Amino acid sequence: MNHFLDIHKTDPAALRRIIDSAAEMKTARAGRSRGAPDDDQPLAGQMVALIFEKPSTRTRVSFDVGVRQMGGQTMLLSGSEMQLGHGETIADTARVLSRYVDLIMIRTFDESVLIEMADYADVPVINGLTDRTHPCQIMADILTYEEHRGPIKGKKVVWSGDGNNVCASFLHAAGQFGFDMTFTGPVQLEPEQEFIGLARKAGVRVTIERDPHKAVEGADLVVTDTWVSMHDSQSTKERRHNMLRPYQVNEALMAGAKPDALFMHCLPAHREEEATSAVMDGANSVVFDEAENRLHAQKAIMRWCLGV
Ligand code: CP
Ligand code: NVA
Repeated sequence: MNHFLDIHKTDPAALRRIIDSAAEMKTARAGRSRGAPDDDQPLAGQMVALIFEKPSTRTRVSFDVGVRQMGGQTMLLSGSEMQLGHGETIADTARVLSRYVDLIMIRTFDESVLIEMADYADVPVINGLTDRTHPCQIMADILTYEEHRGPIKGKKVVWSGDGNNVCASFLHAAGQFGFDMTFTGPVQLEPEQEFIGLARKAGVRVTIERDPHKAVEGADLVVTDTWVSMHDSQSTKERRHNMLRPYQVNEALMAGAKPDALFMHCLPAHREEEATSAVMDGANSVVFDEAENRLHAQKAIMRWCLGV
């Protein structure tokens, strides 16, 4: 069964096919209105459950629109309104949903929920973000990078800020797509050793550099994300902000990267915190292309999962 749980768990050839297929589907739709159906209707007759245990704008809308463009139907479910939020086991939920739907996308807190869902479902399961990873986002980011600058293989990607779930999926992707990763941020907020170790084992040159200005030298891509993720306690906000302020992506920092270096942020952004508006809205920023490409990348992921 083709679950899409994490980038390092998916074969590199399949990842490449997904990116290529996303690019082809995007081109095929160019100029059409958002609600217009795709010419082929690969998801005709298919029902997709979209489960959210955390808030979402992009993931929710892009999955929903993507399924509809491909001729399928969606069911939006909030974790707290399901029996899942009231004591029913994940395993039983997975078994039951598998009798009704053809595909499950879940955004949850603990990674173990995703894994258990996949273990017990008879249909493919897609990771729509957990506390530890966000693979769909990074597939959209690879598509975005390659649209603007060509193959990402061999490029230098610099992550500045919190070594969070999005950063972890970049480390997974570095191993599968063959790019270098530099992390710059406070020691307390480095990515988990497991992610760094796995990337190094996959042959990635992973650099940890405390000085953000040194880190961005020669960067092809600079990426950041919110300083307080949905799974972080608000009580840590002030401490996190104090630690992360030196790692803000601003024009001075971007000036140290290659002149054509792209800037990415998965959004939602807290402007003037992790990145300034001058950078977010600057010539090298592709943040809204990333958001759009969630749609195209996830359509390709769903087709791969369903084999259609
Ligand atoms: N980037 C992203 O996943 O955004 P949402 O939280 O709005 O889905
Ligand atoms: N790191 C962020 C990403 C949101 C898309 C979070 O987990 O809240």
